Amino acid sequence: MPELVSGETVAIQRGRLLADAAAAVILARADAHGGKVSDDDILYVARQWVFRKNEVRQNVIPEGQTWVFSDTLGLLRDRCGRYIMSGASQAYPHVMLLLNRWMKDCWGEHSQRAFCCTSISFNKGYAAKLHRDGNNQGPSICKAIGHFSGGRLGYFAEDDKTMELEKLKADQEAVFLDVKSAFQVFDGNRAHFVEPFTGERFSFVFFTVAKWWKTKCEVLDGLKDRAFEVPTPESMAHAQVLVPSPRGYGARQLPRMASLAIMFWQAPLRPQVVRRAWEAPRETKNHIKESNVLASLLGVHRPPRGTETDKNAATAKKAKRSKTASSDAQA
Ligand SMILES: [Fe+2]
Repeated sequence: MPELVSGETVAIQRGRLLADAAAAVILARADAHGGKVSDDDILYVARQWVFRKNEVRQNVIPEGQTWVFSDTLGLLRDRCGRYIMSGASQAYPHVMLLLNRWMKDCWGEHSQRAFCCTSISFNKGYAAKLHRDGNNQGPSICKAIGHFSGGRLGYFAEDDKTMELEKLKADQEAVFLDVKSAFQVFDGNRAHFVEPFTGERFSFVFFTVAKWWKTKCEVLDGLKDRAFEVPTPESMAHAQVLVPSPRGYGARQLPRMASLAIMFWQAPLRPQVVRRAWEAPRETKNHIKESNVLASLLGVHRPPRGTETDKNAATAKKAKRSKTASSDAQA
């Protein structure tokens, strides 16, 4: 038998070895037939995986509980500040390969650019309380699988961290992201929580550890060997676009901004990307009309209508008129 990973019991190791073996079989099938990894594949492996009780993530543990089933896979920062690969990631590489392949298969349906990340938060059976994660870089994406009702991700997209969580909860309205239907984008450093649910629910949050660039090359190579799309400064810059800077919920912000955003823009976006209202594409006259109404409601300054192309066209038209006048005079 392989050595136990720190914190594992024999029973935990046994379940994880079964999960890793199942992942290897699914990957071999996908390689042989070129098929995608499905939610059902992941559910099968997740059911084999045995969690240990995590008492460290105090910021997510629901009231009345002292631990949750939550494992961090891939890169993490240890208590000494070192960037290391988690023991489970080293011991169960096929699970890492399968999860990353699944994420890429799902994400690739909506985006040509791969989602970069260093780590995966793998959770079972708990509804995280309202919290902010303080150790993330850039956006995270989340998907939940299993047979459950409820369990959407509540998200305060405009949270700039100036408001206490309790006040935020009492005074503001969250956006609810349907993590069951598809991967959803959010910024883990902004306030979020899981809606209460019933049934069996596993969730996977793919994210990047803050200051990942401090990681030693051999550790990064290990992540790449497990199919992590390790960020580069360039890919992270692109990823940041998915989560524009928050506007805050202060006195200058009209309440219920999130609801207005849902009403006008968020529903059709897949993967769900939170944008400011005036940054959303304006494809039709109705869109222009609606965004103007929204801007006036919010009392914001909108960028000028005229685009560079419009200005060039106007200049060309003016020059043509002047030339025609000149030609007429010469005639
Ligand atoms: Fe979180």
